[in-house]
Amino acid sequence: MRKWLLLAAAVAVFAAPGAVMAQNPIIIKFSHVVANDTPKGKGALKFKELAEKYTNGKVKVEVYPNSTLYKDKEEIEALQLGSVQMLAPSTAKFAPLGVKEFEALDLPWLFKDDNAYADAMKGPVGQWLFKKLETKGITGLAYWDNGFHMVSANRPLISPADFQGLKFRISGSKIADQYFRELGSIPQIMAFSEVYQALQTGVVDGCENTPSNYLTQKFHEVQKDITVSYHAHLQYAVIVNSKFWNGLPADIRAELTKAMDEATDYTNSIARKENEDALAAIKASGKTTLHYLTPEQKAAWQKAMQPTYKWAKGRVGQEVLDLISKELNVQM
Ligand code: LMR
Repeated sequence: MRKWLLLAAAVAVFAAPGAVMAQNPIIIKFSHVVANDTPKGKGALKFKELAEKYTNGKVKVEVYPNSTLYKDKEEIEALQLGSVQMLAPSTAKFAPLGVKEFEALDLPWLFKDDNAYADAMKGPVGQWLFKKLETKGITGLAYWDNGFHMVSANRPLISPADFQGLKFRISGSKIADQYFRELGSIPQIMAFSEVYQALQTGVVDGCENTPSNYLTQKFHEVQKDITVSYHAHLQYAVIVNSKFWNGLPADIRAELTKAMDEATDYTNSIARKENEDALAAIKASGKTTLHYLTPEQKAAWQKAMQPTYKWAKGRVGQEVLDLISKELNVQM
């Protein structure tokens, strides 16, 4: 009798693969470190919505925002181990993977505006960089924008001399490390989830980030002065575990690619406005003072940070710099 029951159960399973599929959807754990209410947070939720819709529920995307699952460095390890399937770290965080070339995108005043960034990434450089991830078991799917960095401390940062001796939190890029050093300050890598407390307790004096990240993490509440310098760009690479991705049924992968393409267009289309709105909210909060550089002041910062370009050649190599300079039509 028991044997017969088991047999019947097995037949039921094989006879109704659709039903089994519905009960056991493919799970994509998408971990990231920022709030839902940011360009990346909204992009991740948009991908979830579209991926679940296009696959008719055969894929379920679980989004874990705000470092709830993993912090910066851990999440990349977790992706390689297959504990999560999808991430969207800032490209400044790829050095521990042994892929330093992404850091070229962190050069100060590299992109003159959002359009210059978007145009450059449409060229071959984006795919060239993704190729570097292949040997690490990681596949790059898309680039998501989050605008330009401001910089802050508990004193106005107006001239390069104002940075002297201050400790700044940086997210991981050696290029940022270098430009902060050229300003006479002391950079320190720290996980994003630890920044608020480090600012509050004085472990670091200042940081750089985009308006949406300042607002949602409340950095502006523990920094008296923010300079809207827009001196460097923050971009994300949406990445997946290659083994997981290549192991998906082809039709599912095609639907997910479509969902990702649309989520990417959406994210990149809202990034600028999200940051403008965040900046307006920071201003309206009255909790910090915003400073804007005059053209002369900006030129002084650019001059002080300029040696980063020469230094970068040894760090990221000439090839990626050539690819970027070709897209931007500038000499590096
Ligand atoms: C940071 O660590 O400052 C950023 O990379 C956070 C993020 O993902 O926007």
